[in-house]
Amino acid sequence: MATTDEKVDAKPNILITGTPGAGKSYLCERLSDQLKLKWLDCSKIAKENNFVEEYDDEYDCPILDEDKLMDYLEPLMQQGGNIVEYHGCDFFPERWFEAVFVVTCSNTILFDRLKERGYNEKKLKSNLECEIFGTVLEEARDSYKPDIVVELKGDTKLDAEQSLKTVKNWYRAWKRK
Ligand SMILES: Nc1ncnc2c1ncn2[C@@H]1O[C@H](COP(=O)(O)OP(=O)(O)OP(=O)(O)O)[C@@H](O)[C@H]1O
Ligand SMILES: [Mg+2]
Repeated sequence: MATTDEKVDAKPNILITGTPGAGKSYLCERLSDQLKLKWLDCSKIAKENNFVEEYDDEYDCPILDEDKLMDYLEPLMQQGGNIVEYHGCDFFPERWFEAVFVVTCSNTILFDRLKERGYNEKKLKSNLECEIFGTVLEEARDSYKPDIVVELKGDTKLDAEQSLKTVKNWYRAWKRK
């Protein structure tokens, strides 16, 4: 049985997902700082550790080796206290996350952000379509219990402030449970 101290120290794992450029890192950076959680940016981890199966020339992006990434994350997830960031969410074990936040962004703003990144035409179009069709939100609702999936707006700094509040309120409520 957990002692009182263990309960006080316990920290949840949360997932921040959404279309590339929607504003996940922007939120994760602030959340990890304010809530003292460890930010695990899966794209960065995959790149640093070469968890890459092959390279997709058409879309100009690496294809993730999901198994290698999950073997890397498993021990960290068992400790708790992580914010996992990734633009997909259907392959992680459901048991890992106490909450799943999906950052969404309006098309025009996302277009500008991705254009600024220098995405090629095909990559830009496919990511915009992903956002227009609400693909990641649907993926999250299909992969996790719908009541733990929460949408966060990522358009403006004001949206980000509200989104930070939403996650922090969720965190406080979780700690009180
Ligand atoms: N709420 C916001 N208000 C204003 N600018 C934002 C906001 N969120 C993100 N941005 C800006 O948009 C750009 C993309 O944001 P960010 O890197 O957070 O996207 P991401 O979802 O993490 O993308 P990726 O999937 O590639 O990791 C950055 O330049 C960031 O500063
Ligand atoms: Mg990011």
